[in-house]
Amino acid sequence: MNTKKLFKEYSLNTYTRCGPVFVKGKGSWLWDQAGNKYLDLFPGWGVSILGHAHSKVVEAMSKQAKKLIHLPNNLYFEEQALLAEEIVKKSFPSKVFFANSGAEAVEGAIKFSRLFGKGKKYEIISMKNSFHGRTFGALSATAQEAYKKPFKPVLPGFKAAKFNDFESFKKQVTPKTVAVILELIQGEGGVNIASKEYIRKLKDFCKKKKILVIIDEVQTGMGRTAKLFCCQHYHLIPDILILSKGLGAGVPISALVINKKIADLIKPGMHASTFGGSPLVSKVSYQVFKIIEEDKLIENAQEKGSYLLKRLYDLRNKFSFIKEVRGIGLMVGLELKIDSYPIFLECLKKKLLINSTHKKVLRIMPALNVTRLELDKGLKILEEVLSKFKVK
Ligand SMILES: Cc1ncc(COP(=O)(O)O)c(C=O)c1O
Repeated sequence: MNTKKLFKEYSLNTYTRCGPVFVKGKGSWLWDQAGNKYLDLFPGWGVSILGHAHSKVVEAMSKQAKKLIHLPNNLYFEEQALLAEEIVKKSFPSKVFFANSGAEAVEGAIKFSRLFGKGKKYEIISMKNSFHGRTFGALSATAQEAYKKPFKPVLPGFKAAKFNDFESFKKQVTPKTVAVILELIQGEGGVNIASKEYIRKLKDFCKKKKILVIIDEVQTGMGRTAKLFCCQHYHLIPDILILSKGLGAGVPISALVINKKIADLIKPGMHASTFGGSPLVSKVSYQVFKIIEEDKLIENAQEKGSYLLKRLYDLRNKFSFIKEVRGIGLMVGLELKIDSYPIFLECLKKKLLINSTHKKVLRIMPALNVTRLELDKGLKILEEVLSKFKVK
């Protein structure tokens, strides 16, 4: 079977696909049709935080599939209730709504913010270089012109401030501002880390002005930054926390974790999602929390993340075209003075999967259970590849 030909003929051309046809994965490794083995240091675009085919995930999934896969959300079932309890216990006093993807959760956050604004306040400030997804609300919040241009007009009521610039944020605030939405580490935007001072000022200002703080942790959540949630680095309790990607470690799930003051406004019939928090995905996600705890993966993310950063600083000293190395935990980026995509392609040829984003940034987000040996192997390939490039 020629898989690539089938894609070309039958799949909508929305993705720049590359590389071989993959057939199986285990941990930080993938295999292609020809049996070649690849080291995956960007598993599932940040989704597969436990690596591929984790045995406890597989077990939870297959056991649950035999018991109960789906129920509609007008019925009670324990899997979703237990997961909601787990998320609240691990985050802050809140209530949880389950959806399927990051963008769908962002849509919910926009709706609930507008509900909170009671028709009088509806403007939402987001950050330049942000990424919140491709549906219309999420796209409107994504302050990157290129993504919106072909689909204009986008949703009204969105304003963009410069990331990490409190004065720029303040300038966008009007009496109609209901919320601010941001990633604490911009992922797709190039691994840009919010400063603690900036978040402190923003948090204090929003509290005073009754502006909701929505934190999009679709990418930074679930131990990625060596805390279960990145907002814990900032001692920040958001009004709405958005989780997805690692939350299901591969099954499609997202969650809106909603502060009590907003949660109490939401009544039956205002919002829904057919597949949201089904028994199957809820059971798996619950198991993900347990695995992170039992296998001490936050600690591993801390230790391996520090090691990875240290090794990348060494590479920065060696290659003058590496402008900056940034990262927290296992969310790491290398900003280059040259295009990053050809480097990504060259790594792929050498059987290493990383990511290229924002034209000049290489992004590395390994599974939380990555080993030092695996990192060493990946760094060796990366160094070999980088040595072929220079500033033009
Ligand atoms: C921070 C952030 N928010 C939202 C999204 C959108 O998620 P999804 O692709 O699941 O809709 C992404 C996707 O990469 C993301 O990184």
